[in-house]
Amino acid sequence: MAERRLGPAVRPRRLRRTPGLRAAVREARLSPAQLILPVFIRPDAGIPSSIPAMPGVTRYTARQAARRARAWREAGLGGLMLFGVPRARDATGRGAWSSRGPIPAALRAIRASEPDLPLIADVCLCAYTDHGHCGLLRRGSVDNDATLAALERAALAYARAGADLVAPSAMMDGQVAALREALDGAGRPEAGILAYAAKFASSFYGPFRDAARSAPATGDRRGYQLDPANGREALREIDLDVAQGADMIMVKPALPYLDILRSARRRVPVPLAAFCVSGEYAMIEAAAARGWVDRQAAVLEALTAIRRAGADLVLTYHAEEAARWLNAAK
Ligand code: PBG
Ligand code: ZN
Repeated sequence: MAERRLGPAVRPRRLRRTPGLRAAVREARLSPAQLILPVFIRPDAGIPSSIPAMPGVTRYTARQAARRARAWREAGLGGLMLFGVPRARDATGRGAWSSRGPIPAALRAIRASEPDLPLIADVCLCAYTDHGHCGLLRRGSVDNDATLAALERAALAYARAGADLVAPSAMMDGQVAALREALDGAGRPEAGILAYAAKFASSFYGPFRDAARSAPATGDRRGYQLDPANGREALREIDLDVAQGADMIMVKPALPYLDILRSARRRVPVPLAAFCVSGEYAMIEAAAARGWVDRQAAVLEALTAIRRAGADLVLTYHAEEAARWLNAAK
């Protein structure tokens, strides 16, 4: 008969005994340079700065954003993703490519005060169309190829205003190839593309649509965004965007789609971003406001989990605050 052991031979808890040991064996790390802050830009004070469904998030004018940019750079953020909240909308979304629109204005103003802060411009039509869809409507449905031309014009306007990267988020087929060709053809080969490659038709975009005033007036986005049930199809979208020349790809939302992040990380060599969206932000904020979760711990746990799943970069409305927490912990 074998001698009775005094306890388990394998004791994983040995490496959890002290903060030093825990830090030494930590697998996924989070640093401010991996966090990108989404920023809403309003044309003027005619649109209020606060957003009811996103407490703590501000809609800035271009000048206000330029003034905040120093703090964002000093926090060590990896960059900003700019979303425009225009005053006027029409059927064609032409405000999206106006050089005097909110995004170009913010790009110029921020670039002037912080030349080294990476600036990314979201390229879509939904905030600029009176119907709120991400593309141009023809007989009630979104016309893919007509939309491509509009997205190209917007991307060019943003590259000209100083965007390092343009980020097409309309989920139109061929949008990455179209933008790459348009940028190269216009003498902007240095402007990169962060493709919203796997963007799901998610209920977690609700607060954003409030903030950007971009909810579709009729119908929904299931005719162009991915079905949340479809993982293989998401990988196909990612393959297509990499083949079309995307410099980085994105999965969106983040927490309900960690499996997609993991598969994408193994599949393609380009940097991978995850967008922890407005509804994910709102869930943590709402629970924390009621004292149901520890706010800082919940935010850092969520962001770390997104990194562990495979994201190189995380877009999050908590970016500035999380960066401050991380910097203070050093
Ligand atoms: C649309 C767009 C959406 C978000 C950014 N751009 C979603 C949508 O309305 O379908 C969502 C971002 C968020 O929820 O934080 N082009
Ligand atoms: Zn859109």
